[in-house]
Amino acid sequence: MPGAAIFAVFIFSLLAAGQSQEYFSRSLTQKKLGLKKEKLSHLHFYFHDIVSGRTPTAVRVAEAAVTNSSPTGFGAVVMMDDPLTVKPQLSSKQVGRAQGIYASAAMEELGFLMVLNFAFTEGKYNGSNLSVLGRNTVFSAVREMPVVGGSGVFRFARGYAEARTHWLNFTSGDAVVEYNVYVFHY
Ligand SMILES: *[C@@H]1O[C@H](CO)[C@@H](O)[C@H](O)[C@H]1NC(C)=O
Ligand SMILES: *[C@@H]1O[C@H](CO)[C@@H](O)[C@H](O)[C@H]1NC(C)=O
Ligand SMILES: *[C@@H]1O[C@H](CO)[C@@H](O)[C@H](O)[C@H]1NC(C)=O
Repeated sequence: MPGAAIFAVFIFSLLAAGQSQEYFSRSLTQKKLGLKKEKLSHLHFYFHDIVSGRTPTAVRVAEAAVTNSSPTGFGAVVMMDDPLTVKPQLSSKQVGRAQGIYASAAMEELGFLMVLNFAFTEGKYNGSNLSVLGRNTVFSAVREMPVVGGSGVFRFARGYAEARTHWLNFTSGDAVVEYNVYVFHY
C-alpha cells in the first residue's frame, strides 16, 4: 500500500473511532434499524425429552440433599438439548433444538423452572433463536410460558408458548410435548 493510502486509512479509522465514541446512547427510528412492520407468527412443533437409554437428550446435572426423598424431585437440575420435530415421531423432520435447563422448583406439585432457547434450523428460521423463561407444571393439560426475546428473525420477540404433553412413558420418563408458540417479531 502506498504511503498516502496508509495515511488515509489511518485518518479514517481515527474518525470512525471518534464517531463511535460520540454518544453513549441515542434514539433511533425503526426504519434506520431496518425494521418493517411487526408481525405475529405461530410455530407448531414437537419436543422430544429423552431421559432414558444410551443417548439421552436431557441429563440431570445437579440435585439437592433432599431431591431423592422429595415427591417432586425438588432441587433437581436437568440440562437438555432436545430435538424439535414437525410431527410427533422423532424420525420426522427436525426443525430445531430446545437447549437449556429445567429445574424442579416446586415442593408440592411437579413444577419446573424452564430456561431455554429454541435454536431453529429450518427454512427462514434457520439460525434464529427464541428464548423462553417460564413455569412448567408438567401434569397440567396446558402450560403457558413467556417468550422473553429472540435473535435473527426473532429480534425484539415477545409472546408465549403453550405446551401440551402428547406422550409420556411413566416408566422411563421419556416424553413428547406439543408446542404452540405465538410470537410478535419483525
Ligand atoms: C441452516 O444454516 C446452516 C448454516 O448456515 C446450513 O449449513 C444449513 O444447511 C441450513 N439448513 C437448512 C435446512 O436450510
Ligand atoms: C442462534 O443460536 C445459534 C446457536 O444455536 C447461534 O450460533 C446463532 O448465532 C444464534 N443466532 C443469532 C441470529 O444470533
Ligand atoms: C417405556 O419405558 C420402558 C423403560 O425404558 C420400556 O421398557 C418400554 O418399552 C417403554 N414403553 C413404550 C411404549 O415405549
